[in-house]
Amino acid sequence: MYVIAILSLKGGVGKTTLATNLAAAAHLRGQATILVDLDRQGSSLDWGSARQENSKLAGLAVSKHDRAFSRARLLELAAGRDIAVLDGPPWTGDQSSAAAVAADIVVIPVTPGPFDLWATHETLAELDRADAIREQFGRGPVRRLFVANRCAPRTVLARSAREAMAARGEVAETSISHRVAYPEAASIGESVLTTDPKGAAAAEVLKLFKEIMPATAAPAPAAKPASGGARKKGRGQA
Ligand SMILES: Nc1ncnc2c1ncn2[C@@H]1O[C@H](COP(=O)(O)OP(=O)(O)O)[C@@H](O)[C@H]1O
Ligand SMILES: [Mg+2]
Repeated sequence: MYVIAILSLKGGVGKTTLATNLAAAAHLRGQATILVDLDRQGSSLDWGSARQENSKLAGLAVSKHDRAFSRARLLELAAGRDIAVLDGPPWTGDQSSAAAVAADIVVIPVTPGPFDLWATHETLAELDRADAIREQFGRGPVRRLFVANRCAPRTVLARSAREAMAARGEVAETSISHRVAYPEAASIGESVLTTDPKGAAAAEVLKLFKEIMPATAAPAPAAKPASGGARKKGRGQA
């Protein structure tokens, strides 16, 4: 299982927006996916409930876990899944820490502007603590990836935000723009990948998803199996 944790101790930066869209990207590629909502506000859970029965996202599991979360609990909850996406809470504690301990990658959304950038200090300190715990499990430090969200591309603000993030760690090449498509899709329990698969928002989400996934978990080319035998859908299959 590959675990993507979306973490920031700041609220409103786009954790749930990225978590729901990245989980949708994984699901639509045929990977058995679970989205775990670690925030007591339950936005991801509400999102999962808003979806229509005939949605293309049917089968994408959403589960809430806003207390007593641990790596062991995640492994139990996500048993049999290829990908778990963890939607983090805006507070420090069990959820954030266990998510970072369990994660293969921590995605840190940052919206351009000084307040978010200052707030990343706290998030990075939380990740440092998680790295110390990981060491006890014999795991290396977690990969941290900043993602600029709600960007107006080619603005001075967006550029200076990227530079400030780059000074603190790895920054995703793909920035997520400010687009009404995100809240519109979220309000009906969908992703920009399902409301407008050919749109600009869908393109940037898919690009970001590719940056996040390791090469070994990338979708295989769309080759048909030689015989008609049933294939288990899983990691590496589109
Ligand atoms: N790229 C974006 N474009 C437009 N609106 C966005 C974007 N990202 C987030 N939002 C909106 O900003 C608000 C906060 O985002 P959310 O994902 O809930 O943040 P968090 O989970 O970090 O609190 C929501 O109303 C969401 O729809
Ligand atoms: Mg949220």
